[in-house]
Amino acid sequence: MIRIFADYEALSRAAANHVVLAGKRCAAERGRFDWVLAGGATPRTTYQAVAELTQEVPGFWQHTHLYWGDERLVPGDHPDSNYHMAKSCLLNLIDIPPEQIHRIPGEAPDAHATARRYQADFPARPDLLMLGVGGDGHIASLFPGSPLLRERDSLLAVAEAPVEPRLRITVTPAVLTAVRQVVVLVSGPAKAAALRRVFSQEGGIDQTPARLVRGATWFVDQQAAKEIIELGVVRPI
Ligand code: 6PG
Repeated sequence: MIRIFADYEALSRAAANHVVLAGKRCAAERGRFDWVLAGGATPRTTYQAVAELTQEVPGFWQHTHLYWGDERLVPGDHPDSNYHMAKSCLLNLIDIPPEQIHRIPGEAPDAHATARRYQADFPARPDLLMLGVGGDGHIASLFPGSPLLRERDSLLAVAEAPVEPRLRITVTPAVLTAVRQVVVLVSGPAKAAALRRVFSQEGGIDQTPARLVRGATWFVDQQAAKEIIELGVVRPI
């Protein structure tokens, strides 16, 4: 499903509502909500809105476990760290038991050992995987042309990014089939071409890794949706 919003703020509020509803439902159905966070900048306002909304939902964070879909191999207090971003936009604003924050230790010396250890702690079927999309169509740290685009066994792997910080730990496509639901946040004109490639099925997964995503709920603002609206894939709001 593709939901189009007038702007980034509206997209973020709607995505936050979606996450909180999912968390309440998972807690009611199985007493736990495993949420895999996205990195980058787009989720910032969504995370802040989730923190605000859950002030009215007693016990939300007692049932919630947080994981990361990818992390740069830098310390947790580094400005490039996805944990660092989530800490400022979410973790510092909520009352969650520390043992329920499952950080990827980017500072650990052995990346492959870190990926293996994190996989051992990672839920077999996460409830919600949140993703952003890069301008080149990457998701998490699955970049165009990466050999990881065919990984179907390991849930997590070491990735090489084309930009600094180059070394990453990332979920693999195997997680996309294990997860109960995927939410993708896409904002701004720089993402319009990648979205067009995803929804017009132009090129392959190697060129546009976001084409790996199936059955997701896409939260897209008008600017990012410009080309798929012109294509007639979606109707403008
Ligand atoms: C990362 C993210 C990455 C991000 C996209 C979009 O570690 O960089 O996981 O996949 O979601 O690059 O980034 P923006 O939201 O900053 O545009």
